[in-house]
Amino acid sequence: MAILRAFPESWRTNPRCVRSNRVRVRAMPCAGFLTRGPRDQRAKRKASGSNGPDGRTSMPTVLITGCDTGLGREFASQYARDGWAVIATHRDLANAICGTPSIRNHALDVTDPDQFAALKRELGDEPVDLLLSNAGVGLDTGRLGSLDFDYVRRMYEVNTIGPLRLVETFADNVAAGIQRRVAVITSRMGSIGLNLSGGHYGYRASKAGLNAMARSLAIDLFGRGITMLLIHPGWVDTAGGGGGGALPVDVSVASMRGVIGRLGNHETGQFLSYDGTPLQW
Ligand SMILES: NC(=O)c1ccc[n+]([C@@H]2O[C@H](COP(=O)([O-])OP(=O)(O)OC[C@H]3O[C@@H](n4cnc5c(N)ncnc54)[C@H](OP(=O)(O)O)[C@@H]3O)[C@@H](O)[C@H]2O)c1
Repeated sequence: MAILRAFPESWRTNPRCVRSNRVRVRAMPCAGFLTRGPRDQRAKRKASGSNGPDGRTSMPTVLITGCDTGLGREFASQYARDGWAVIATHRDLANAICGTPSIRNHALDVTDPDQFAALKRELGDEPVDLLLSNAGVGLDTGRLGSLDFDYVRRMYEVNTIGPLRLVETFADNVAAGIQRRVAVITSRMGSIGLNLSGGHYGYRASKAGLNAMARSLAIDLFGRGITMLLIHPGWVDTAGGGGGGALPVDVSVASMRGVIGRLGNHETGQFLSYDGTPLQW
């Protein structure tokens, strides 16, 4: 309710295409799932009689970025296992998730406006119940005096601007969905209040900027019934977690899915940890 009161002021197994959380195995894309477009998918569902009375599929749809590895891949697998239609996007389609008919693989580098436009053309006005911004580049280790400014800039492009472009591009699809949720994977490292150890300039700033943007998106999209959530996955055992993360990827994802699923529209704009604990901005 606090966010509402604040509104006026302003809130991963086919061995041919496997890539584990840590080890990348390059392989041929699984052509069958790459070439099937949404219109063909809808026609297929219609033919199988699984569409609802309004002509759309009865399965909720989730669009997830950064499914090449780690959390994104696990999100795609878990949602597919639970019967969702999954639009999994990949920076490199060689990492497409094969053998699961409910997962459609698409190319999307979140720094490439042309790829956003191509995916939007492909999806058209297809409803997306949950838009999940996951793609990100991980911790920078640069120290003052030896900062890699190209990498700092890259983090901004991927971690901050990419998610903003994602939401701008697909807001209408989310508004056309039934659940109308946007979940943005951020990081506790983006909290200014919780920064007691310094360093990690690019990563911290890119995630803090992401948090600021997502809060504005929450306010701007509230009237369209869209609920925004910023969620920190914990320190997870993925490449992005820098190795040695305490949380297994499946545990983190299952917990975040629970938080996302329980979120009410009145709770939009919150910055939460994977277990639902509110985090300081
Ligand atoms: N693991 C943690 O402890 C932790 C903690 C806090 C926040 N996070 C956040 O969680 C999210 C997922 O990270 P992860 O832990 O699963 O690490 P990860 O395995 O490195 O996953 C990041 C994913 O983003 C993709 N990606 C990178 N640049 C991209 C681009 N320009 N366009 C599209 N996709 C791109 C990567 O693809 P490539 O591998 O092909 O580059 C990779 O699939 C990130 O936003 C990260 O900041 C993770």
